[in-house]
Amino acid sequence: MKQDLVKTISFLQEKTNLLEIKEGFVELLSQIKKSKNKNILINHDSSFVAKEFLIGEINQIVETQTIERTKYYIKRLKKSLTETKSNKINDLNLNRWKEYDDLITDSLWILDKRDKSGVHHAGYWGNFIPQIPNQFLRRFTKKGEWVLDPFLGSGTTLIEAQRLGRNAVGIELSKKVLDQTRKMILKEKNPHSINLEFLNGDSSDIELKNILPDLGIKSFQFQIFHPPYWDIIKFSENKSDLSNTKSIDEFLNGFGKVLDNCLPYLDKKRFAAVVISDKYTNGEWIPLGFYVMQEFVKRGMILKSTIVKNFDETTAKRNQKELWRYRALAGGFYVFKHEYIFIFQKK
Ligand SMILES: C[S@@+](CC[C@H](N)C(=O)[O-])C[C@H]1O[C@@H](n2cnc3c(N)ncnc32)[C@H](O)[C@@H]1O
Repeated sequence: MKQDLVKTISFLQEKTNLLEIKEGFVELLSQIKKSKNKNILINHDSSFVAKEFLIGEINQIVETQTIERTKYYIKRLKKSLTETKSNKINDLNLNRWKEYDDLITDSLWILDKRDKSGVHHAGYWGNFIPQIPNQFLRRFTKKGEWVLDPFLGSGTTLIEAQRLGRNAVGIELSKKVLDQTRKMILKEKNPHSINLEFLNGDSSDIELKNILPDLGIKSFQFQIFHPPYWDIIKFSENKSDLSNTKSIDEFLNGFGKVLDNCLPYLDKKRFAAVVISDKYTNGEWIPLGFYVMQEFVKRGMILKSTIVKNFDETTAKRNQKELWRYRALAGGFYVFKHEYIFIFQKK
């Protein structure tokens, strides 16, 4: 497209004849559709708008029957191209909210395909899928802000942070896991020149107070927690590893200490997320997810959302599908297909 989009829209906005306006937009639409690019240049200051969004908005203008309504849609479109409606917790321009159609706003998440791009891999047993931190970093942080992941594992959060231009600190108890993760992540490009910090230690007693000044920060703008789901997967022999706790109370107590150590370093009004599932032991469904959620609420965090997400079937489980179905029918229970993500805001 050679013409200045905003100028063309302004020119058509001045017209009083509905037919002429429509003809003008039909012509504009055909030019936009011809473009092979996913994004269209707005004007010559090199800002872009998503082609699909533009097509949707112009279609609405073309299909409208009254001049008042048509003018209203034109005004709205122009505003979305020229004005930014920003907010304090992310970089989304709410004047163009329709462009973010890949940002999930429903509480039921069915994610089929794991993002396996770059150094992301499903190899670390118990890692979460990259779409989880990707969604949250875009919704709850701005570029250049700081994120904390106290259960780093294979570093899914830090990979996404590096790609999206957020600084991040990851804490991992196992030195071996931490070293492998660091090595792997540093293979990826750092296009936004952000800082990534890899800390080896127990998230319930690591001294953030002494570490943060070295990073030149006082706090984080988002924290994401993905603890062991109690003892479902044993991560190490270390007695500080939450997967080695002997009872549910011990697990919750240990997790609570991690919260006491980390949440004071989350800015007020900012968000935290925890990814967790329930557990089945000795014929009883243990609502681990809800117990973990309570630990946040007890510490004054506001529960903003409970997301139910489909559970990645492990290969072992998939191969035993029939057996699990039989057991469920025989034992009066339901086979796990979901886990929870709880979203909180600090008062
Ligand atoms: C569920 S995994 C996290 C996976 C991660 N989200 C990923 O995508 O790779 C939990 C991790 O927490 C670590 N861990 C367990 N107890 C810990 C503690 N007290 N402090 C720090 N890390 C701990 C385990 O070694 C394990 O790597």
